[in-house]
Amino acid sequence: MTETPQAHVRSQFGRAAEDYVASPGHAGGPDLDHLLAWGRARAARRVLDVATGGGHTALGLAGFTPSVVATDVTEPMLQAARRFMRERGVTGVRFVAADVEALPFQDACFDVVTCRIAAHHFPELLPAVRQICRVLAPRGAFLVQDILGREDRELAAFILEIEKRRDPSHVRAFTQREWAAFLKAAGLTVIDEIVMERAREWEQWTGRMRMSEAARADLERFVLSAPAAYREAFEFKIDGRRILSFTDRMLLLRADKD
Ligand SMILES: C[S@@+](CC[C@H](N)C(=O)[O-])C[C@H]1O[C@@H](n2cnc3c(N)ncnc32)[C@H](O)[C@@H]1O
Repeated sequence: MTETPQAHVRSQFGRAAEDYVASPGHAGGPDLDHLLAWGRARAARRVLDVATGGGHTALGLAGFTPSVVATDVTEPMLQAARRFMRERGVTGVRFVAADVEALPFQDACFDVVTCRIAAHHFPELLPAVRQICRVLAPRGAFLVQDILGREDRELAAFILEIEKRRDPSHVRAFTQREWAAFLKAAGLTVIDEIVMERAREWEQWTGRMRMSEAARADLERFVLSAPAAYREAFEFKIDGRRILSFTDRMLLLRADKD
């Protein structure tokens, strides 16, 4: 029997839940600051954080929003996020297990929906953004951050192979044009967009997904034997045959419901 993408996600994230709570790249950064600044400017009363992971975006939102609901398809992730909030004395966030493609909420019941570092796991983007648009109130805002997909097909294939070997639940990253088209098709208009670079420290990045030594060595061989131009495009830093880091791009979008 083949696993659904959601089952893949649950098994990958279920065993690494606490690592996501502790991950510095998830706990903060200029991308989170931007999403929260956009959220704060809306002065929204009801916010939904989709694919909340360790809960860092929901925690930030809870600082200025009366009602925050955090959803995720991975139960152990929700439990870890709930513990994390409790330790910080935050009690107002409600946690609900849900797949982004089947959000268990009425139409138009949130003023803002956020989704950070997660859309590249969704089996398909359009059904996900349609659900998000459905639960947004008229003129509500969707605030999203994800890995930015490359337009160049060879570079896109190279980084996709790396991402999938590291994390089999990675589906793919979408380009800026794809995001704009899917959001438009769902009934959302892009108002702001920001592209940011983000350096990935190799040990930490591969370690968080608990790759076996053999799988990591295989991945390193794949990177080291790729054309130099591919490695240069992602600014791979290499010491001898040791990979130290690489840099990818994040896309941040603010899209308003039409
Ligand atoms: C990297 S974590 C999210 C990080 C978090 N948003 C933050 O700001 O720190 C990715 C999350 O996406 C969730 N996820 C993946 N596919 C999903 C889906 N189809 N529906 C809901 N959640 C999903 C995973 O369970 C995981 O917790």
